[in-house]
Amino acid sequence: PLFIKVDGLEKRVVDAMEYSVMNGGKRLRPFLVYETSKLFDIPFEQSFYAAASLEMLHSYSLIHDDLPAMDNDDLRRGKPTCHKQFDEATAILAGDGLLTYAFEILATSPYEDKIKIELIKLLSQAAGAINGMIAGQMLDLSTERMTNITNSEFIIKHIEEMKTGCLLRYACEAGAVIGKADNPKRQALVEYSRKIGVAFQIADDILDVEGSQEIVGKTLKKDKDQNKLTFVGCYGVEKARQMAHELIGQAKDIVSVFGKSSQNLQDLADFIINRNY
Ligand code: IPE
Ligand code: IPE
Ligand code: MG
Ligand code: MG
Ligand code: MG
Repeated sequence: PLFIKVDGLEKRVVDAMEYSVMNGGKRLRPFLVYETSKLFDIPFEQSFYAAASLEMLHSYSLIHDDLPAMDNDDLRRGKPTCHKQFDEATAILAGDGLLTYAFEILATSPYEDKIKIELIKLLSQAAGAINGMIAGQMLDLSTERMTNITNSEFIIKHIEEMKTGCLLRYACEAGAVIGKADNPKRQALVEYSRKIGVAFQIADDILDVEGSQEIVGKTLKKDKDQNKLTFVGCYGVEKARQMAHELIGQAKDIVSVFGKSSQNLQDLADFIINRNY
């Protein structure tokens, strides 16, 4: 089991971790790890560790993203957010616990040492404060408080690249690392991840204005009220949608070099813009 049952008072934090992971997430990042690994004939049992580890880390980022001091959200994956279901302090610790657990899973995985170290390095960079996810979150929060942003097109692209893009890039690069891909193949997967990453955040921003809260499972129509810098805010829904479509076309072209075995990655690219949750 991924979540060991513990006794004692610390049970509360492990329960909060499990509550926030074992629920209605789309599992997009694990899916990318499986599918990119599969291109190199790596079976599920092998890619599982990198995939599970990444989902732990992603779930931590959602718990903290929802905290009152950040986006202050009540609903996540169709259920009360972690701090609503438990309490704020427990939610902070559950996030910390999942972030730490992600690296424990990698460190204790059966991958050979070279692969293990490469994955740990890439994941720590992707999640970190120097051009990683935490940097993106900082920028996302900082721009909330700004009025009159000039060059907002450049900044929104940069926020996306870090806050969402880094983990999606890691998901695809992990497959290349586990599969010992050569450089051109690894690069192709990185480029694919960059295209779907931007399209993914555009779709997230569009869902905030157009989605059905019941299906999406999070509180919608919040970005504008919170003065978030979003693709929709920058370009408007129609232009943003068109950009996402173009990016998905490019992403599918890029992975087509892998031939028929890239079908699921092609389908996933389509799902990213056609999804309603
Ligand atoms: C939401 O990610 C957070 C962003 C990076 C925009 P997902 O849409 O993948 O969330 P889950 O995992 O399916 O809940
Ligand atoms: C969250 O972005 C990104 C991370 C958690 C790193 P958002 O704030 O747009 O995500 P949602 O819309 O709350 O899922
Ligand atoms: Mg946020
Ligand atoms: Mg949020
Ligand atoms: Mg959002």
